[in-house]
Amino acid sequence: MSELNNIALKILEKGKGILAADESTATMTKRLDGVSVPSTPENRLLFRETLFSSSSMKECIGGVILYDETIRQETSNKNKIPELISKMGSAPGIKVDTGAKILAGSPDEKITEGLDGLRERLKEYYKLGAKFTKWRGVYNISKDYPSKLSIQSNAHALARYSALVQEYNMVPIVEPEVLMDGEHSAKDCFQKTSKVIKKCFEELILHKVDLKGIILKPNMILAGNKSKDKISNEEVAKLTLKCLKDSVPSEVPGIAFLSGGQSEIEATENLNLINKYNDTNFIMSYSYGRALQQSALKFWSKNIDDINGTQKVFNHRAKMNTLAAQGKWSKDLEN
Ligand code: G3H
Repeated sequence: MSELNNIALKILEKGKGILAADESTATMTKRLDGVSVPSTPENRLLFRETLFSSSSMKECIGGVILYDETIRQETSNKNKIPELISKMGSAPGIKVDTGAKILAGSPDEKITEGLDGLRERLKEYYKLGAKFTKWRGVYNISKDYPSKLSIQSNAHALARYSALVQEYNMVPIVEPEVLMDGEHSAKDCFQKTSKVIKKCFEELILHKVDLKGIILKPNMILAGNKSKDKISNEEVAKLTLKCLKDSVPSEVPGIAFLSGGQSEIEATENLNLINKYNDTNFIMSYSYGRALQQSALKFWSKNIDDINGTQKVFNHRAKMNTLAAQGKWSKDLEN
């Protein structure tokens, strides 16, 4: 088994998932504004340090995706953040893209940037302790979108990024996110997501990326948030499985979904059903941002000194998702 395959499997072993705490400063400021906490480096660190030292890190969280600011910060006990995460038995990871910008040639769409100087940045992140990385391509759905140009150019960037990351013996998380915003049906989401993922693998193979040493981070197949087409959670799970079975090569060890604006319970319930019906060899787990942190952030914002209380809220969410990643969750466990 290759070293990269080992890292990927370890991150997702026994129902463990990934905590996506890689919000950029701008995004984190939005989240903190939403709960009326000033977005200072100290507050951003305090909230994140509280999560990273929770007891559920050991049994539920196999990896944490960090943002550039956080990977360089030190805890109140002068521990480096990647050291704290490793000590808790989890793997530190880092977001390495520099954000989605307007795509020249199709200005309603986005292309993710960050390839220039990436090799040098990866060298530094590896030294800082990163074991894996993340790059997010983002696609919107409408009658004409995502365009061929957006599908092609984002897949190319994801593949070039992945090849560079593997040079440094880190596992690339490949995240093509087809957004849930819009009026589209689940069928549209299925068709467009399938196209996007297939193109990503075409490019990953072209760029000689070791597919056993990546983790795919896709969206689930959902109807748009303004759609009249309502589908059941069972249908979400079945369509998501069908899409991934048809589009993802069997060498890929694990799939860790993004939550993408689903509520905490919805993201857990859908993941649970995906695992109940999972007839593939892929590990199906989570790499959630909002769906792991929302309640904890809300609690913390009102009780900033209550570390134990905040951790209790986070531990519960992490535990529920780890059960869902094994198909063992049920609604009554939420109470
Ligand atoms: O890139 C997106 C994040 O890593 C996942 O965030 O679960 O809130 O969609 P989310």
